Amino acid sequence: MKIILTGIAGFIGSHLARRLLRDGHTVIGIDDLNEYYAVSLKRDRLADIARAGAFEFVEADIADLERMKALFAKHSDATHIVHLAAQAGVRYSLDRPELYVHANVMGQVAIFEAARKLNRCLHLVYASTSSVYGANRELPFSVDQRVETPVSLYSATKLAGEHIAYTYGHLHGLPATGFRFFTVYGPWGRPDMSYYKFATAITADEPILVHGFGKMSRDFTYVEDVVSCLVSALELPPAPDTTGVRHKIYNIGNNHPTPLLDFIGFVERALGRKAKRTLVPVQPGEMISTYADISDTQRDFGFAPSTPVELGIEEFARWFKSYHQVN
Ligand SMILES: NC(=O)c1ccc[n+]([C@@H]2O[C@H](COP(=O)([O-])OP(=O)(O)OC[C@H]3O[C@@H](n4cnc5c(N)ncnc54)[C@H](O)[C@@H]3O)[C@@H](O)[C@H]2O)c1
Repeated sequence: MKIILTGIAGFIGSHLARRLLRDGHTVIGIDDLNEYYAVSLKRDRLADIARAGAFEFVEADIADLERMKALFAKHSDATHIVHLAAQAGVRYSLDRPELYVHANVMGQVAIFEAARKLNRCLHLVYASTSSVYGANRELPFSVDQRVETPVSLYSATKLAGEHIAYTYGHLHGLPATGFRFFTVYGPWGRPDMSYYKFATAITADEPILVHGFGKMSRDFTYVEDVVSCLVSALELPPAPDTTGVRHKIYNIGNNHPTPLLDFIGFVERALGRKAKRTLVPVQPGEMISTYADISDTQRDFGFAPSTPVELGIEEFARWFKSYHQVN
């Protein structure tokens, strides 16, 4: 297989790239290496991916339509597209909404437009998020629920991305599968996410902020479980629905929400240190709980999240200590 992979220097993209290269596939990776968080971490991920095999890296903005069209035309023998590049992060979308529209709306259009210009109906797998469930209250979140209440610009732009994917299926017959990821964590993770912030503060002996006064819960999903599902999905483009559109959305979650306070306990145990906890209210745009119904994902891709949070956090902590050279 030859896969065009956007967001290769990102957390999930780097894990997927390593897996694809180890499995003997060709990878063309795109990323703009933006400064949302440490560029050094993104470059270190690229260096680590190179240990798994040679790949082509293209530093480019996915929202640059002409550049994407030229790049896809150059690699018109690609067999699949995995689109993970995005402006992620709920909290930052309150400060810089325009970055989210640029990467997640214009970027989504540019990737789908470049793909459809190939006229080959390549299967396009793309990332969405549990955040699209927004203010929905019924748990577990199921792909059958209506999603009309995004509570942050991040979720609004990712929801727009799902609609854009559907439209390309309807207008151009492009087959696409969207995955709503539920709080993905693991080695080489994202410094803007809570587990990474907790580890950073705990090892520096600084207080951690426990949002929602500790009453939140998350369906924490280990990154290698996510990668296995994405790899299975590549070869299984969706069948046409009743109107002939080949677009389907799935949840990828652990199907087992963990209360935030338990989760902090796992991080403490894995690091061998106690946290100084400061209880604070929920931040605007944050959801109280996430919990994925994964029955469709299990049925269609055999997805079975097999990594308990305690073990996944140990893997993360091992990597964190080694990468940041802390004890
Ligand atoms: N990690 C999670 O828990 C989680 C949860 C839900 C959804 N997601 C989605 O999964 C995908 C991957 O997330 P991640 O956690 O690896 O995030 P990440 O920020 O680590 O990776 C995204 C990568 O995309 C790149 N990028 C951003 N804007 C770009 C642009 N305009 N052009 C080119 N590259 C650009 C960034 O430089 C980054 O390397 C994203 O679409 C995100 O919205 C992640």
